[in-house]
Amino acid sequence: MTVQSVMSRYFSISEKYIFLEYGGPDGELGASLRYLSQRYSVPYPEIKAVLTDIGTEELAHLEMIGTIVYQLTKNLTMDEIKKSGFDSYFVDHTTGVYPSSSSGVPYTAAFMQVKGDPITDLHEDLAAEQKARTTYDNILRFCDDPDVIDPIRFLRAREVVHYQRFGESLRILTDKLDSKNFYAFNPEFDKKK
Ligand SMILES: [Fe+2]
Repeated sequence: MTVQSVMSRYFSISEKYIFLEYGGPDGELGASLRYLSQRYSVPYPEIKAVLTDIGTEELAHLEMIGTIVYQLTKNLTMDEIKKSGFDSYFVDHTTGVYPSSSSGVPYTAAFMQVKGDPITDLHEDLAAEQKARTTYDNILRFCDDPDVIDPIRFLRAREVVHYQRFGESLRILTDKLDSKNFYAFNPEFDKKK
């Protein structure tokens, strides 16, 4: 991926929004920490494996997003920085890649939840994947550069696959529960009689 050549032409709004997927509320860092933290309290190894697998993959996606952000910003002129509204970020971080949202909110674990109930956690994970997919769709609305569009499309497609894998996990989970009342039973905490 070489986005350097088109960087100054492209620099306007898009890279600011790509920060959303780096350290924003529905971004890759939050996804990775969410799944790698939730995995401990899932009592079924096959679902724990899905959370570990996807949580690790999201870390690799964090690196891709960080690379795109860095390539888009590292050679900006002071004039471009001023005109684009990147100046406040620049004062704090120069062109380093800091985990924040596009609006400048630093990453916080308050963006995510670890509820200790796999039914609840998997529903959050399904929603998280759709929110990440929507965020990528919105980023693509701003992009006209193939060097950015191609990896963003790839990442968007992975969110769809993750959504499907969490859907399968939810089905595996509910198959193992007391079918009389799924939602009054936490398989991690309550023991089956
Ligand atoms: Fe994902």
